[in-house]
Amino acid sequence: MSPASSAGAALVTGAGRGIGRATAERLARDGLRVVVADRDEESAARVSEGITSGGGCAEALCLDVTDRDAVRGAVQDVVTRHGRLAVVVNNAMWIRYKPFLDFTEDDIDGMLAVGLKAVFWTMQAAIAAMSEQGGGVIVNVSSPAAWRGMPGTAVYSAVKGAVTSLTRQASRELGPLGIRVNAVVPGAIPTEGARQIVDEAGYDLRRQMTPLARLGSPEEIAAGIAWLASEDASYVTGHLLAVDGGILAS
Ligand SMILES: NC(=O)c1ccc[n+]([C@@H]2O[C@H](COP(=O)([O-])OP(=O)(O)OC[C@H]3O[C@@H](n4cnc5c(N)ncnc54)[C@H](O)[C@@H]3O)[C@@H](O)[C@H]2O)c1
Repeated sequence: MSPASSAGAALVTGAGRGIGRATAERLARDGLRVVVADRDEESAARVSEGITSGGGCAEALCLDVTDRDAVRGAVQDVVTRHGRLAVVVNNAMWIRYKPFLDFTEDDIDGMLAVGLKAVFWTMQAAIAAMSEQGGGVIVNVSSPAAWRGMPGTAVYSAVKGAVTSLTRQASRELGPLGIRVNAVVPGAIPTEGARQIVDEAGYDLRRQMTPLARLGSPEEIAAGIAWLASEDASYVTGHLLAVDGGILAS
């Protein structure tokens, strides 16, 4: 697969573990210089070192994506040092599942801050850089929960529904600038973060809901993101790519 730009950089948020880690590793293998951004400095460093020791090009960035100024500064720094911001992957998320009536204002504010507002901050920063350089690719991370909520996912479903709508809207507004905006829709992936909120019974249920009758891997989601980021997807924008074992089709 041809990468978005072998000369450019890719910024992946929440890349210290899970789907973000796999995405950073995959984009590096595809020839991009990857900025492994996470609010957890140690995990970002671990992922970055793993990529560089395997011959890829990566650097760790301790970044809280809810900090708008920090996000803007980080993107400017990437452009100054690497010349071109080819790809941004908005992957970071902080999740609480609860019965509807139990959600507190802190729960809702926290999920909106990481899952939605931060997507605006990175997109705003990236759009400025990408429009100047004549284009780029933004990949957001949605969820089947945007379409098929489960008990407990009220806020998560709302946040991912908003990210999904934003992706489609932004593709229309940014297409004329040469910026493609798409989202991947991952199925059930038992990452470290997901295992904190889904128990074994929950995973049994998800296997039953999945036509391919199994859970997915972070690497399978990363492959979808890498395709959306690549030149092979040069005519693809506003698309929601389900990499979900068929959950949305069932
Ligand atoms: N795992 C699944 O089954 C699944 C399914 C559908 C969608 N998704 C989506 O995929 C994405 C990744 O999920 P995952 O399971 O790999 O999650 P995860 O919890 O394992 O990893 C999330 C990463 O984001 C980082 N992060 C959290 N808040 C941050 C902040 N404010 N600033 C910077 N980094 C921050 C965490 O430190 C962590 O490294 C999320 O957007 C999630 O909603 C996951």
